[in-house]
Amino acid sequence: MRHSFTILILLISAGAMAADDAAPVARESPAQRGYRLLLEKPYLTPDFDQEVFDRLWTTWPKPLREKAARATPEERRRMAFSRYGLTERPGDKSGKPLQYVVDKRGNWTMNCLACHGGKVAGRVIPGLPNSHYALETLTEETRRVKVRTGKPLVGKDVGILFMPLGTSNGTTNAVSFGVVLWAYRDGELKHYPGRPLPKMLHHDHDAPPWWHFKRRKKLYIDGFAPKNHRALMQFLLIRPNDRKKFDAWENDFKDIYAYLESIEPPKYPFAVEQKLAAEGETIFNRSCATCHGHYDDEPSYRERMIPIDVIGTDPLRHKALSDEHRRRYEKSWFAHFGRDKVIEHPRGYVAPPLDGIWASAPYFHNGAVPTLWHVLHPKKRPVVWRRSENGYDRKRVGLEVKTFGKLPKSVTTKPERRTYFDTRQPGKSASGHDFPAKLSEEQRRAVLEYLKTL
Ligand code: HEC
Ligand code: HEC
Repeated sequence: MRHSFTILILLISAGAMAADDAAPVARESPAQRGYRLLLEKPYLTPDFDQEVFDRLWTTWPKPLREKAARATPEERRRMAFSRYGLTERPGDKSGKPLQYVVDKRGNWTMNCLACHGGKVAGRVIPGLPNSHYALETLTEETRRVKVRTGKPLVGKDVGILFMPLGTSNGTTNAVSFGVVLWAYRDGELKHYPGRPLPKMLHHDHDAPPWWHFKRRKKLYIDGFAPKNHRALMQFLLIRPNDRKKFDAWENDFKDIYAYLESIEPPKYPFAVEQKLAAEGETIFNRSCATCHGHYDDEPSYRERMIPIDVIGTDPLRHKALSDEHRRRYEKSWFAHFGRDKVIEHPRGYVAPPLDGIWASAPYFHNGAVPTLWHVLHPKKRPVVWRRSENGYDRKRVGLEVKTFGKLPKSVTTKPERRTYFDTRQPGKSASGHDFPAKLSEEQRRAVLEYLKTL
């Protein structure tokens, strides 16, 4: 396994960097520049090119492939966006995806918004977790096109043979990507390709909404990492990116930091029963605010860490990072060589802020629970569920889903299986956070109404 990972990293290193820098625009604020850089400047190696993207439909299962064969190129592109969880950019008619930088030569390079930019009820919102992203299916199918057309493979194409990228659409094995990338570097970011990897605990994670960023002092569900602009660059630790590049890109990431700080949560777009919501606020302040903070005239959020056996949600993420990993992080470039302190041994998960919570379904760090009603009814959470693409459940507040007692027998292929969320798989438990169970049904109805207003 170790050997395979070394091969993977060597292959990643063989990829060529696209040199295009985004052209500067006059009189931008730092936050505006940060957003533009995310869309226009590639910090990773390209994953595939336009030709590969345009041929993806040839790999699809039969009825869909036949439909694509008959479709116009524009319809076919929309079908591909839908299959892989890509969206257009709001206010931009270029047709480029929010989630990839597409340069003049037609190279597609993943950007941060691949996981951090998505849509809810059909509306695209940068900073909203991309709950549709089908990274593994996209990677498998682009690889198939490359093999058929004799195009060179890149790191991810081969990495997928050794490491899951995301076994349910909308969630990714991102934390493990971080562990692998970090394993080959020392504190000065020097690269050591032959180093052994630590024990890997693969699990899929739902990205948090970026409008929480301004509320946080420490990052991630276990709150271990000090918040600074360098922390935003961990994902760029692929081999071609050496220390010189990290130093050169620091200013870009100061602006990306400013962009993250500037994002506001979106407002609930449907009707709210104000009286019921006001009752809900009182109950929330009594039963939930000690952990999640207050959202009234004097908002407060304390970033409280809840021990893992008290919260009781899926524990795999808690075990996946070692104290050693965090200690090395603190001594490294990312934490200014010990100036910024890590939490070396987090006891559990941090209760997240709940601003804009109506928009960021599915819930919990692993995305196991489709609606807020299900968060409030721990015993009634579905074992297996499948969402619709743009449906929004106003009654239960969250994803419109079909639920199942187990994975239907008719599901035989992996791309199809990834459109279901199966809570019995490792890292995907929907249990825990039983606190709402002590509220009456009436009280829960009121809290649910209140949550729409945050
Ligand atoms: C492959 C998906 C993926 C990509 C790409 C990605 N992230 Fe994330 N990001 C995640 C996941 C998953 C988490 C949650 C990790 C955790 O809590 O352990 C996260 C967490 C974060 C957080 C912490 C937020 C909080 O409230 O704690 C920030 C900030 C962040 N990402 C910024 C970025 C930036 C900047 C980039 C691009 C350089 C990026 N991410 C690229 C998946 C991704
Ligand atoms: C003892 C602390 C505590 C109490 C009390 C508590 N929560 Fe939580 N809550 C947490 C933690 C920790 C998480 C993160 C769990 C995870 O992601 O695994 C969480 C997660 C959530 C989420 C999902 C957030 C997301 O972004 O996915 C919602 C919604 C939520 N809580 C609502 C409530 C409501 C409503 C109440 C009151 C009825 C409540 N919580 C009471 C600690 C608490």
